[in-house]
Amino acid sequence: VIDIRKLYGQTGKFTYDPGFTSTASCESGLTYIDGDEGILLHRGYPIGQLAEHSSFMEVSYLLLNGELPNQDELTAFENTITRHTMLHEQLATFYRGFRRDAHPMAVMCGVAGALSAFYHDSTDITDPKQRMIASHRLIAKMPTIAAMAYKYSVGQPFLYPDNKLSYTGNFLRMTFGVPAEEYVVNPVIEKAMDRIFILHADHEQNASTSTVRLAGSSGANPFACIAAGIACLWGPAHGGANEAALNMLREIGRPERIPEYIARAKDKNDPFRLMGFGHRVYKNYDPRATVMQKTVREVFDALKVNDPVFEVALQLEEMALNDPYFIEKKLFPNVDFYSGVILSAIGFPTTMFTALFALARTVGWVAQWNEMISDPEQKIGRPRQLYTGPVQRDYVPVEKR
Ligand code: ACO
Repeated sequence: VIDIRKLYGQTGKFTYDPGFTSTASCESGLTYIDGDEGILLHRGYPIGQLAEHSSFMEVSYLLLNGELPNQDELTAFENTITRHTMLHEQLATFYRGFRRDAHPMAVMCGVAGALSAFYHDSTDITDPKQRMIASHRLIAKMPTIAAMAYKYSVGQPFLYPDNKLSYTGNFLRMTFGVPAEEYVVNPVIEKAMDRIFILHADHEQNASTSTVRLAGSSGANPFACIAAGIACLWGPAHGGANEAALNMLREIGRPERIPEYIARAKDKNDPFRLMGFGHRVYKNYDPRATVMQKTVREVFDALKVNDPVFEVALQLEEMALNDPYFIEKKLFPNVDFYSGVILSAIGFPTTMFTALFALARTVGWVAQWNEMISDPEQKIGRPRQLYTGPVQRDYVPVEKR
């Protein structure tokens, strides 16, 4: 009997690390996370400072180019992105192939992948200029793709981009505006939305980013790689958690019921978990959740929303943070705990939440993809495995089995 592991040279040393909890798959200069201290830096800048003082366009430039832009560079970048916001007219026909009740992420995945059939002049990945054009196209077109997915789902006509507006203002108008009526962008909502985009722009080697890198490592078309990232993000353990957190808060409904849910979360015989709590990397307060909590207040004040869900969230957070179970297991609110509350107040249906995440994360995906392709040491991603199947055996004809 031949041990098949030896046959295929599987006798060397491999790291067996399911879920890659302690394996670095690459070197990267984009994002630093210290989960114990609750620190998140993009190119060295703390996320709190970027969310407070910067804009999504500025953070996009920073992630792509390594430094914050000066005013001229920022204006030129915004103009470039603005030039690429339109979708090829034939893509509208592509939308019509989807059922009206298709999930926006199914549409995003399909349309982003279909871009590869339209923009052949930016797919030579050996040319840094073409790589940058593809990156700009993706960042620019994602809001248009997401807004069109929303419009299609509610049966309203598509709105073309209005490039006099900001990146985020334009997205809000394409989503909530209607033809023949002027849409006035509410500056508080525009700022809040822009901040949410900043908070989701990149988060080092999470599942969807690793997917984009792995897909791109074979030299695949950049638009197809981003479609792969969208597919991965769609999963409830990744991009879908904010929807689950909002549903949980609505189900709790009023503060008096919070202890019942906390008790359930602690009960080992109950599979229930507090959604929006805990994180693979953060064993401290997720710094993005701090910004989110502040932003909910601003949005609720601006829209004069009086949704009890926010009060439930605040009280739930306070109770959990003072509970020995959550203290001992280092479970803190993550970015998803408050984001659903804000997005719902702005008017997005829950099915759009992950699509908005995809829109923002596109910046991280393309920046990471560019970083990988520019690395002279770059190789195709090819994990090994620990084989656990049968050893070699002889084929038995069907009549003898
Ligand atoms: N509520 C109650 N208990 C929890 C929770 C929670 N939300 N999260 C973790 N725990 C407990 C687990 O039961 C486990 O307890 P044990 O040690 O007694 O078995 C312990 O804390 C560690 O949990 P793991 O699942 O092993 O930790 P992991 O790092 O694999 O999981 C995860 C992290 C998936 C985020 C988890 O905390 C969770 O399910 N949270 C709720 C879902 C959520 O909010 N996801 C969004 C993540 S952020 C993002 O993707 C953008």
